[in-house]
Amino acid sequence: MAYTRRLLAIFLLLILHQNLFSSADAWGNVELTCKNAAAKGIDFHFCVKILQTIPKSSNAGTRDLAIAATKLAGKEFKHALNVVKKLLLTKVTDADKEALSVCSDAYGDGVDELKETITFIRSRSKFDAITYLSAALTDVTTCDDAFDDFGNKSLVAKTNANARSLTSLALAITSLL
Ligand SMILES: *[C@@H]1O[C@H](CO)[C@@H](O)[C@H](O)[C@H]1NC(C)=O
Repeated sequence: MAYTRRLLAIFLLLILHQNLFSSADAWGNVELTCKNAAAKGIDFHFCVKILQTIPKSSNAGTRDLAIAATKLAGKEFKHALNVVKKLLLTKVTDADKEALSVCSDAYGDGVDELKETITFIRSRSKFDAITYLSAALTDVTTCDDAFDDFGNKSLVAKTNANARSLTSLALAITSLL
């Protein structure tokens, strides 16, 4: 009787084990990473949507995903820098012009910081990577704040929101390393 019960226990363990394995397969690293990123305040669906655009993301490790997310944030910063530079060439108020120059500097710094971040993630300097990603987030806030009181913040609202979302995602994934 004891023997049968032990056999049954082993059998159940085997089934459980197999189920765990197959669900880990179906739930790839993108979903697992995003579940953990969601615990850090990132929107799960946004995370999955972004990471699925990365080639071979289903086989990517967390470090690869952190690098890829940082690259996407860097691309967004370059785009933001272009948007701001173009706006500076249009007819805007003096207050907006002043704010846009602050944004131009801030995004310029951010592009460099995000480039450095990738080097840090690759060399496993997690602390430095987090410091630089946080600095990039501060750059977006600097741009936002430059419009306070007199400027027209809606000029850069969407651009800033995109840059902030992608940088926050990169920061959350990097902090999982
Ligand atoms: C602020 O900028 C937006 C977007 O360019 C524009 O539609 C809006 O008219 C501007 N508002 C003011 C008060 O200038």
